[in-house]
Amino acid sequence: MILKNFIVFEGIDGAGTSTQINILKQRKEAGGFFFTAEPSGSQTGKFLRSMLKGELELDPRTSAYLFAADRAEHLWGADSENCGIEKKCLEGKTVVSDRYLFSSLTYQSVTCGEELPRLLNSTFPLPQLLFFFKINPETSLKRVDGRGEREIYEKIEFLKAAEERYEKLMDEYDAKKTGMKIIRLDAEKPREELAAEIWNEISNEVLQKS
Ligand code: TYD
Repeated sequence: MILKNFIVFEGIDGAGTSTQINILKQRKEAGGFFFTAEPSGSQTGKFLRSMLKGELELDPRTSAYLFAADRAEHLWGADSENCGIEKKCLEGKTVVSDRYLFSSLTYQSVTCGEELPRLLNSTFPLPQLLFFFKINPETSLKRVDGRGEREIYEKIEFLKAAEERYEKLMDEYDAKKTGMKIIRLDAEKPREELAAEIWNEISNEVLQKS
């Protein structure tokens, strides 16, 4: 199922999704949008953030369940400041999320195989528009290092596996013809150029069709 008005940004760490979301936030036309991210601001999301910093160790399968549980809360939870994105979209609000289920189908596939993340994420709706930031993992890791502390997945071998998995996943979804539009971006292009491409898609694909 496609959730109209829902836009997702995906890519490996350091691909620049957060930078582009920040640029988008500055546009006056995006003043009424709801901007969010996963892990979400819910308690499960906070718990996941401390796992990502390496403050507690979990079996990879437990993490897969928790990312999916956080997603359920993000979609359906009553706390409208951080969650409830499905209701917002159905009411006609444009929602933009930095990461969604494709992160689980990528990252958790690398840590615990493809089957469990697929199963856990099979009931969630797909976004209307998905931006995939394609980048060389060496370049993305340099960007991550420029920011300071590394999180648990921010290692070259891991990011290489994740990038490969992401690219395969995008092809798979294209072939499935779900109705979700996937835009592949060359994340190494200048940020203003990317911002223009992104805005062009959002205004043509989402705003004009709502
Ligand atoms: P990131 O999006 O880079 O946020 P921040 O800039 O705040 O650190 O970090 C989130 C990390 O969580 C990233 O390494 C990907 C990982 N992640 C998963 O492994 N599975 C998921 O389902 C999600 C949403 C994120």
